[in-house]
Amino acid sequence: ERGGLTDRYGRVATDLRLSLTDKCNLRCTYCMPADGMDWLPRAQLLTAGEITRLVGIAVDTLGVVELRLTGGEPLIRPDLEDVVAGVRGRHPDLPISLTTNGVGLDRRAASLRDAGLSRINISLDTLCPETFAALSRRNLLERTLAGIAAADAAGLSPVKINAVLMRGVNEDEAGELAAWCLARGYELRFIEQMPLDADHGWRRDTMVTAAQIRAHLERDFALTPHPAKRDGAPAERYTAVARRDPAVHGTLGIIASVTEPFCADCKRTRLTADGKVRSCLFSHEEVDLLHLLRGGADDEQLAQRWRQAMWVKPLAHGTESPGTEGLDASGYVQPDRSMSAI
Ligand code: GTP
Ligand code: 5AD
Ligand code: SF4
Repeated sequence: ERGGLTDRYGRVATDLRLSLTDKCNLRCTYCMPADGMDWLPRAQLLTAGEITRLVGIAVDTLGVVELRLTGGEPLIRPDLEDVVAGVRGRHPDLPISLTTNGVGLDRRAASLRDAGLSRINISLDTLCPETFAALSRRNLLERTLAGIAAADAAGLSPVKINAVLMRGVNEDEAGELAAWCLARGYELRFIEQMPLDADHGWRRDTMVTAAQIRAHLERDFALTPHPAKRDGAPAERYTAVARRDPAVHGTLGIIASVTEPFCADCKRTRLTADGKVRSCLFSHEEVDLLHLLRGGADDEQLAQRWRQAMWVKPLAHGTESPGTEGLDASGYVQPDRSMSAI
């Protein structure tokens, strides 16, 4: 069997999301517990060399055309520049992007750009220091803002900002966040909270839905949906023009994973920091490549194991039930790993 990462439903994964560590310097309530995480042992993390090899197989043999580095918090890895440079050395034209909370990016944005990074997405849920501290359990808003400014200054554009809105926490800040990002030319995407938090605190009836986010934004902005086909991209994008000052305008996105799922167009394959293929964010099964690789497998054996892992990608949200049922059904079972470890 040759070819790419096709599944039983005919989807083809061409977008690789690679987690570099399960650790993080924040403790966002929608993602991690306050304490008591068991970290992966360092010896079980993919090394920069192993990552270069696996990405090489993904790109050269399996048809992957885009790489995103995630965490946990990928800046925790002191060798992040080596990871980027190693991949870039083999793949001069591959888009390589980073998803980060921005803490520490002020000192590394330029070195990451020089290593060959293409783009950065940074999480920013609030501009209020107290809310930031409550939501992330750390008092690091200034460090995140410095990281965002550094990414912009390094020319890693377009800078995209991710915000998860939570009822009673930062829901009322949607308009302010949007104005702040538009004024700086950053593309802000609001993300519906998904049931992936370690504390299992997610509730369907208290999550902020895409419809509610749109309603919040409509008060301050005129929104026009982008006509372009989304083509597997998670964000529904809008042109936004501020009602009070039309000079403030740009693109805003909403990622409605829960209420308007895009599983049918999903193009993702994932590798965890310890080298396991996850065919879906919500998978209950993982397929180990790390030990196969360390046991001396050749590229074709690794590629074949990866194809097998993706062939059984679930239909939607880790289940075989279509539509939103996966996340709304009483039968939804959260994966064992929290978001930070995926
Ligand atoms: P670009 O738009 O190409 O910059 O990337 P992205 O939006 O895919 O990347 P990012 O890492 O910034 O992810 C943003 C959000 O998309 C995440 O927080 C998730 O909420 C959501 N997301 C990412 N991957 C998946 C996925 O496989 N399934 C679902 N349902 N949501 C996802
Ligand atoms: N639901 C939605 N988004 C989440 N993120 C982390 N946990 C969740 C969740 N439970 C977001 C982060 C970051 C992105 C990679 O995922 O805020 O922006
Ligand atoms: Fe860390 Fe990101 Fe999880 Fe927040 S959402 S705790 S920044 S991994």
